[in-house]
Amino acid sequence: MSGTKTAHLRLGVNIDHVATIRNARGGEHPDPVRAALAAAAVGADGITAHLREDRRHIRDEDIDRLMKEIGLPLNLEMAATEEMLEIALRHRPHACCIVPERREEVTTEGGLDAAGQREKLAPIIRRLGDAGIRVSLFINPDVRQLEAARALGAPVVELHTGAYCDRTGLEQAEELARITKAARDGVELGLEVHAGHGLSFGNVKPVAALPQIAELNIGHFLIGEAIFIGLGPAIRQMRALMDEARAGVHAA
Ligand code: PXP
Repeated sequence: MSGTKTAHLRLGVNIDHVATIRNARGGEHPDPVRAALAAAAVGADGITAHLREDRRHIRDEDIDRLMKEIGLPLNLEMAATEEMLEIALRHRPHACCIVPERREEVTTEGGLDAAGQREKLAPIIRRLGDAGIRVSLFINPDVRQLEAARALGAPVVELHTGAYCDRTGLEQAEELARITKAARDGVELGLEVHAGHGLSFGNVKPVAALPQIAELNIGHFLIGEAIFIGLGPAIRQMRALMDEARAGVHAA
């Protein structure tokens, strides 16, 4: 332990599921941009949104409004396609997180195969980077994928925490050990390490406590919890748990 305090752990609030509820009726309510503004008001460090090919979450016009209205960095999650690349280059969000996308999936199941898709990913990462967009790859906590991200020139990786969140007991401890190792390996490779997917009040602290992790992106749980306690209080409580986990944790 060096005694150096770890850097602030950023919280990116994913507002996709506000859009999911809005889209269920096809109107304008609830407005994901209003949710982003509410998140900003209680200290979110950034807003994350996934423009899916089928537009089941946010829509193109939401990106326009998020870019103009929120005053926080936007992390646009997108599949590695020409259509999404063109949209990202037009809007120039702060960051783009490249995610695997299959039309029939309920949510982003598993990480991107950066190691197996180098040829497809390389030009997309380069063009986003050339436009000044910070590129992140959403990968499983696996050293092969980290090395591929580094070789591809992506400055950031986001570790998929879904398997950790879905499991309990010993299996969950094993998944946490994978995330812990990947966070260390990522920093050693010179990557900025983020994490997300499935995080909740009940499971966030062990991940937030990892000093190598710079940012968590959290959506579904916060939007669901907002039904019961409101969005502001849900985000504040998540922030408090992240801060508690970091308190006393020092950089290695
Ligand atoms: N990070 C990435 C890359 C994601 O694809 C998602 C889900 O869209 C999240 C974080 C947030 O996951 P959850 O909604 O389960 O908190």
